[in-house]
Parts: sequence; C-alpha cells; structure tokens
Amino acid sequence: MSEPLAGKVALVTGGASGIGAAACRLLASLGARITVADVAEELGRAVADDVDGYFHRLDVTDLAANHAVVADVETREGRLDIAFLNAGIVSPTPDDEPLDLAAYRRILGINVDGVAFGVDAVVPAMKRAGGGQIVATASLAGLVPLPGDALYSLTKTAVVAYARALAPTLAPHDILINALCPGFADTPMITPIKSQFDSIGFPVLTAEQVADALVECLAARRTGEAWFVQPGMPAAPYRFRNVPAARHPDGSHAPIPVNLDPHGARR
Ligand SMILES: NC(=O)c1ccc[n+]([C@@H]2O[C@H](COP(=O)([O-])OP(=O)(O)OC[C@H]3O[C@@H](n4cnc5c(N)ncnc54)[C@H](O)[C@@H]3O)[C@@H](O)[C@H]2O)c1
Repeated sequence: MSEPLAGKVALVTGGASGIGAAACRLLASLGARITVADVAEELGRAVADDVDGYFHRLDVTDLAANHAVVADVETREGRLDIAFLNAGIVSPTPDDEPLDLAAYRRILGINVDGVAFGVDAVVPAMKRAGGGQIVATASLAGLVPLPGDALYSLTKTAVVAYARALAPTLAPHDILINALCPGFADTPMITPIKSQFDSIGFPVLTAEQVADALVECLAARRTGEAWFVQPGMPAAPYRFRNVPAARHPDGSHAPIPVNLDPHGARR
C-alpha cells in the first residue's frame, strides 16, 4: 500500500474524539506520525496508542501550552508538517437566554483562541521545516447561519475568515492554511440532537467522511479556502461571491493595493 504522507509529522488538536480521532487514524494509515492533543486524556491516549502515536494533554485556550506541545513535537519528531486545529465545542445555552459570560468566553476561547493560538505555535515550526499545511476545523455554520447557536456561528465564521485572511501572509513560507466546513457529523457533539436527524432519515456525515475531506484538502495543496463537506457529494472549496470592486467617483474601477488584495493567496 502506498503511503502518501510517509515521513510527515502531524499534530491533531481535539484528536481524542469524533472527527479528530478519525483524522488521526486516517493520517496514520497514510504514513504520517501523529501527535494527539486534547484535554480528554484517557480517550486521547487510546487514540494515540491505536495509531502508534503520542498523546499530549493540551487545553487549546492556553497559548503557552500550544507552544509547549509544538516544541515537544519538534523535539521528538524533528519537524512539524501538518496541523489539524480541530478542537471545538457548541454553546451550552440557547440563543434567547441572557448571555452567560463564562460560557461565552469558553466557546470563543476554544473555537477561536484555540485556532489563533495553534497557528501562532505551529507557524514557526513549519517555517523551520521549510513549509507545512494547517487545516482548521470550522463548520458549515461558518458559511451559512446555524439557527439556535449563533455563538457557534460567530466562532466558526471567524475561523473561516481567519484562514482566508492569513493565507497570503503564510504563502511565501510555503505554509498553506484552509478551513474545513463539515455539515452535521455523527460524533458526540451532536448526540443531543441526533434523534431529529434520525426521525427524518437525514444522512449525517460520518467522522470518517470528514477525515477523508481533510485528506482531499491536504492533497489539493491550495490555500485560503473553506472546504464544505456535505453528505452525498464530494468535498470542495466553497465559492464565495465577490463583493463588488470599489469605484472612483467617475465610476471607473479603483484597483486595490496589491498587498491588500483579498485574492492574493490563490494559487
Ligand atoms: N459533529 C459535527 O456535526 C460538526 C460539524 C461541523 C464542525 N464540527 C467541528 O468539528 C470539530 C470536532 O468536533 P467533533 O464533532 O469531532 O466533536 P467531539 O466532541 O467528538 O470532539 C471534540 C474534541 O475537542 C476536544 N476539546 C474540547 N475542548 C478542548 C480544549 N479546550 N482543548 C483541547 N481539546 C478540546 C474534546 O475533548 C473532544 O475530543 C469541532 O471544531 C466542531 O466544532 C463538528
């Protein structure tokens, strides 16, 4: 069997469960060396054992801890090539209840800080490795509104925007960054609402299908894209509609400075 990721070193946050665990297994089967990073120690160690990898306890909301994990990966493996920044949670409270400040900080901390802090930690290591690939798990809720969990949409839209905006800056270092935007996937995250899908026969994704989409995204070697993953169709980059270009008062096209061109990342 060919191993397209042989020799690659991958870090997977939120790798103890669901999509992250499926990603660890698939990346390992393709030859990558895996570090599972998660707050869930028992589950995370079990996944790491399964893939002959390494477990590191990580709370992604802790910037210094993100750096420590990456330093540890570099010490053990000599390099870091792939970071799947995937840890995430949904809101515990309905949208129409008063804001619970602690819960608000928690979801932004995990879903947004967790990605920005992860990027801050992995980019220097990827520069040392001569390049790399970052995929952050956003959600379909980062592309379309998710009624009932507006805070989740807030965080996932942020992840999409962050990956798209950061891509041109990382591109000269051969570091690619994309967001993965799965629809509903059968993981512990959707257990509370799973019966609603079952009752109408809705085909929720499997975690393995989302992991397949991750690998397709890595193989495409593009950057600054948001890949949607929906049941019954191939994963693909979402085509954003362009905002109309600026115009001078006389109506003529007003070119934007090249370094501020949002499409500068496309390859
Ligand atoms: N399941 C879905 O329908 C779905 C759809 C779109 C996007 N997503 C996203 O996919 C990602 C993975 O979710 P999942 O569905 O596999 O759920 P999951 O609950 O099975 O896995 C989430 C993992 O993140 C870990 N985690 C939570 N807080 C953490 C922290 N502070 N530091 C480190 N790890 C932490 C958990 O311990 C768990 O292992 C999330 O970002 C989620 O928002 C899920």
